Formats: sequence, C-alpha cells, structure tokens
Amino acid sequence: MIVVVIGSQWGDEGKGAVVDNWGKKADYFVRVQGGANAGHSVIVGGKKIVLHLVPSGVTYAQADCLLGNDMVIDPKGLIKEIDDLSAAQALNCKSLGISPLAHLVMPYCLELEKLREQARGNNAIGTTGRGIGPTYEMRARRLGIRMEHLRHLDIMPDYVKTILAEINPEIRHWGGQGFTQKDMLGFLEQYAPYLVPMIVEYPISVTICAANAKGENVLIEGAQGLELDITHGTYPFVTSSSTIAGGACSGAGIGPTMIKKVIGVTKAYCTRVGAGPFPTKINGGLAAQIQKRGNEFGATTGRPRDVGWVDATQLAHAARINGLTGLVITKGDVLQGIEPKICTHYVYQGRKITNFDELDCCELSKAEPIYETLPGFSEDISGCRKFEDLPKGAQELFSKIQTYAGVPILAISVGPERGQTIIMKDLWQ
Ligand code: IMP
Repeated sequence: MIVVVIGSQWGDEGKGAVVDNWGKKADYFVRVQGGANAGHSVIVGGKKIVLHLVPSGVTYAQADCLLGNDMVIDPKGLIKEIDDLSAAQALNCKSLGISPLAHLVMPYCLELEKLREQARGNNAIGTTGRGIGPTYEMRARRLGIRMEHLRHLDIMPDYVKTILAEINPEIRHWGGQGFTQKDMLGFLEQYAPYLVPMIVEYPISVTICAANAKGENVLIEGAQGLELDITHGTYPFVTSSSTIAGGACSGAGIGPTMIKKVIGVTKAYCTRVGAGPFPTKINGGLAAQIQKRGNEFGATTGRPRDVGWVDATQLAHAARINGLTGLVITKGDVLQGIEPKICTHYVYQGRKITNFDELDCCELSKAEPIYETLPGFSEDISGCRKFEDLPKGAQELFSKIQTYAGVPILAISVGPERGQTIIMKDLWQ
C-alpha cells in the first residue's frame, strides 16, 4: 500500500513525528520534494533528532529510505546529517538511497539566494537560506546538476562552463564575486565519492512500483505544507516545489491511482514562518505562550514561528487540493488551559467568505477572520491514549476540526514522545 503524509497548513505540522509513529509497518520511507528547508524533529527515547533531508523512517531497521526525484540536496548538509545520525546511533534503516533524478544544491545557488533576499529588502520572502529556490530555478532552466551527473564527471567541465556563463553575471549584478569552473568541478569531485554509492541504480519509480506490487508498505512523506505549494499556496510567499499530494506522484515516480491514502497533518492551532498572509495570526502574550509551550522555533533556522488559530476555510482547502482521506491532529496537548478558537470564515469588503479560494493572496492579507470560541480543557491530556479518555472540551475541539476539514481523524498527538498519540484507526488497514 502506498500512503502519502503531507502538511495541511504552512509546514511544521509535525509530519516527521507522524511518519515515525506509523513507521513500524513501513517497508519504504520516501521523501519526495524540497530539501534542507524542511526540519523534521523526531523524539526517540527522549533524544531529539532533527532530520532535514533524510526520511523520518531512518530509525527503523526493517525499512529502506529513499530521497526522491523532486528533492534538491545539499551534499555537504546530507553528509553532515548522515554523520550526526550515525554518531547518535540513529541511522538504523536497512538502506539509504538517493534518486538519480534529484538535484544538487550548488554553492552558487546558496549565494544567489542570499544576495537576492538581501536585495529585496521589505519584499523578501523570508526563505530558509538553503538554496532551494535557485536550485529549482536551475532545474527549470535546464541547467541543473542532477545526482546522476556525478557518475559522469568527464562531461562536467563543459556543462559547468555553460552554467557559470549564465549565473556569474547575475551573481555579480547583485554584488557577489562569482564562481570559478575549477572550484565547482572541485566541489563535484569532492562529493561524488560519497554520493555515487548512495545513488540507486534506476529511478526510484522502479523500486516503489515493485514494492507496491508485492504488497509492501510505502510511506511517502511530504515536506512543508499546502499553503507553501508553488501553485496552490499563498504565492509568492511560498517554497519552490509542489508540496501537495499530487506532487508525490512525480517525486516518487508513481501514478495517482497507486496512492491508497492521503493523510493530512494539522496542528490543533496553526503556525507560519517567513513573510506572507496569515489571517488567523495571534499577537501578544497568548501567542508567546503557545509559541513557548509548542516549542515553535524553526527546526532548520531557529526562527520563531508566528502562531495562529486553526482556519476552517484553509483546512477545507487542504482537504480538497490533496484529496485527503484522513487527518492527524498534532500538538493537542499544547492548548491545555487556553480557550481555543477556530476561524469559521472571513469577512472581506463586507462579504462573507467561506471558501479559501475566493480570495487571492493580496485579498487574504486584508481579510477579517471570524471565530468560533470553544470551551477548551484544563486537564493534562498527554497521558490519554483513547479518544474517550479525553476531557469533553478536548473532544469538542478535535471533533470540530474534523468536521470543518470534512475528513476523519486517524490520530491525535498529545505529546512529543514516540507513542504519545491517540490512534483512532490503523493507517495500514
Ligand atoms: P524556501 O523554501 O527556503 O525557499 O522558503 C520559502 C518559504 O517557505 C519561506 O517563507 C520559508 O519560511 C517557508 N518554508 C520553507 N520550508 C519550510 C518548512 O519546512 N516549514 C515551514 N516553512 C517553510
């Protein structure tokens, strides 16, 4: 069975922990898009492991982990991550393979991003600085360097020359120095011996389709979230890849009909990092309280995340675009003692707006959110393992989120540890 787990807000929903929780029965874990802009925290035995590129199933001995086709991979970052995981004795998976179709984040991509974000001033996107945007640009420009290129270093001098002829003038335009062919070839030669043995022989599509045909379980983990999708998100304040379930088809090399389930992960509240509209953003002391309790600081950049309420119009958007079949609510415990709200609709220029798509990105930043306030709960729910064990106020909050999303809840996480989860339905059945 192939299952896709994706973020249904602006990223950081806790997908890593969800994937890790359901991981015992997975034969394959596949990351399909994005790069080290993602930061998935997994807590195993009280130890926090932050994964940026490696799939969250890396701790499971029965599983093969794959870095998929639409990923953009910084070689230095990947090797450091692998070394750190090994040092923490957390690299336990059967194998770790890289798609030959994935792209390398090259040093000039990191440099370009830095220079351009600086030059944009107030109009900066607030990117993670991991070279993501420029690497996807180079891919679309047909000047990207794929993993499979590392097997053919003999053809690289010419190719790198062509790349630098286009990219150096732009770097210099923004005040940078430019890169030499010698240095870039040196970069490729330095990392090829580490990476080539990890590049799988054929595109991962072959492996995943064969696994599916044998009845094995494949868990595809998305990075970021729907509202950061390059097409469907709050453009231009988005990332550069397809973060939706549909994107998983390209990133894994599978047809849409092969996906059995699409699980959307949402927090019991909402967060966002970087610039762009966030209609349900909370300000002041309450935001700081939720931020602190929920440890809402970027796993990649350490930036504090803006905090807001669950937005019903936005969740319904996520359910529709992704074709969600199930919902996982995370960080349920964080709202203990806080009167929760859910945004049911917006008012924009006197009109009631119930459909997220009715407003474009510019209008969204001016929309007034209208809330339903719920009683909430004062009890500690971190020990609850059944929905019936939850206090009435918590049950009401989670049920409302389910109703507004229009998708059944599969699980609710009530604490950061592996196993601190209320499982309502087994993912693999
Ligand atoms: P980029 O992906 O680094 O180009 O950043 C583009 C936008 O997406 C910025 O607003 C980032 O803060 C946001 N972003 C990228 N990756 C993540 C993530 O994993 N979680 C939350 N926000 C992210």
